[in-house]
Amino acid sequence: MKAPLSPGAVCYNLGHISRIPRGEGRTYRLRDRLIAVFRSRNDELFATQADCPHRGGPLADGIIGDGKVICPLHAFKFDLRTGAPLGNTCPKLHTYPVRLDAKGDILVTVDDS
Ligand code: FES
Repeated sequence: MKAPLSPGAVCYNLGHISRIPRGEGRTYRLRDRLIAVFRSRNDELFATQADCPHRGGPLADGIIGDGKVICPLHAFKFDLRTGAPLGNTCPKLHTYPVRLDAKGDILVTVDDS
């Protein structure tokens, strides 16, 4: 389900937060792009591009903790809040606004323009 926002931006409902176990990530296809959504152990949510900018590793399968993700392929690290590379020269991850609604559903906003 989606709700229109400002021109070009679309809010996607990805379902209840319980679909992502604490400390894990999941990949979602939203139209033509893949997005990784992460749930920290204290229920913080983060959303980034799904593919690692190094060699395309599946970031949702990485290890998360302390607001960071470690790519499962070559262990490069990224800040989940800003997308910034940490200790590597990869480009910054694209990040997306993500929040919970009153029912506990995950809402991700993507600019489709
Ligand atoms: S593909 Fe992610 S660190 Fe290499």
